[in-house]
Amino acid sequence: MNLVNRRILLGVTGGVAAYKAAELVRRLQDQGATMDVVMTEAATRFVGTATFQALSGRPVYTDAWDTRVPNGMAHIELGRAADLLLIAPCSADFLAKIAHGRADDLLSTLCVARNRPLAVAPAMNREMWANPATRRNVALLHEDGLVFIGPAAGDQACGETGDGRMSEPDEIVEAVVAHFTPRHLAGRRVLLTAGPTYEAIDPVRGITNRSSGKMGFAIARACARAGADVELVAGPCSLGTPPGVLRHDVISARDMHGIVMSRCDHWTPDVFVSVAAVADWRVANPSARKLKKDAGQTPPSLEFAPNPDILADVAARANPPYCVGFAAESENLIEHARDKRERKRVPLLVGNIGPDTFGRDDNVLVLIDEQGSSELPRASKDDLAGALVAEIARRLKG
Ligand code: CTP
Repeated sequence: MNLVNRRILLGVTGGVAAYKAAELVRRLQDQGATMDVVMTEAATRFVGTATFQALSGRPVYTDAWDTRVPNGMAHIELGRAADLLLIAPCSADFLAKIAHGRADDLLSTLCVARNRPLAVAPAMNREMWANPATRRNVALLHEDGLVFIGPAAGDQACGETGDGRMSEPDEIVEAVVAHFTPRHLAGRRVLLTAGPTYEAIDPVRGITNRSSGKMGFAIARACARAGADVELVAGPCSLGTPPGVLRHDVISARDMHGIVMSRCDHWTPDVFVSVAAVADWRVANPSARKLKKDAGQTPPSLEFAPNPDILADVAARANPPYCVGFAAESENLIEHARDKRERKRVPLLVGNIGPDTFGRDDNVLVLIDEQGSSELPRASKDDLAGALVAEIARRLKG
């Protein structure tokens, strides 16, 4: 819930993507936002006002002369009540209008009369997006400080493929959340590991663990929202990559170690957050062929070899990034976490009470540093990630 107490005025203009604006209202509300919807006349040709009224639970406005706003100043009142004006989809025509300060309907008048930030998610045919007039309008609007979300490239309603389709509702929500997030990590490079690792026994079997990757992915997302450049080295998990994050997929602990060391050499992160549940051991003698269960054969025995400790190796580098370790413990959390912090020589160790934490959407975190320990109380992994990033940023500044 990253948009609690935020009021967003969503302007919907005429384009096929208007149907996605309905989903967008839902997703923004899921984050706690209060939504007011204003539609242009053209938008109502694509989706009815009743849809947005039902979803937002509030009146939908289309007309500058709407008498429901007490002083008859809908173009002033609605804009002043909002923390952000968001136009999604924003048509080529509407971009042209706001680039030139036209005010000939309620939504365009609201934009001219605004004293709040304005974000736009353009949606149009690729030729319209590439048209020199649109390029000029976009350049003008960039100069005016508008926030552009997308557009994305891909299949278009007209059957063509290219730049101009509206960003997906999830990406727009992410950009809106980022807009309201303090840029604690602006200019910082953050490298993370997340998820489980998988150690092969043979080509079809292996040893892994129950880590879902949710906490690590949530922290990567929170770092990107806080303005960092983020790279995420992910073990096998099916989560989507957070917007703005560069992902490296790996399988085994040794693969993960290789990528992390190479990124430390070539990208020199400022912060390393080691959230992955890395297998401490790998099978020393994996079979190149599938092990067969021949009748009468004794069960195969596995030999193990230790895996490299990625976090300890990063922390031991000559000029290490600020290292944050994680510890999932079943008992004596603080003692074990304190011990781990010293053993791996990291400034900050984050403990959580596992292994029931794996796969859950919420968590409790205990932060252990040279000052002692403090708790981030039970909350969603998303909210905890935001709080943890603020703590990391505070320590970096210190
Ligand atoms: N870690 C790592 N490489 C390993 C093992 C762990 O980078 N081979 C990192 C984890 O990402 C985590 C921290 O070290 O940030 C602690 O991991 P954990 O498995 O809890 O610690 P271990 O040192 O393996 O101790 P134990 O399993 O005995 O509790």
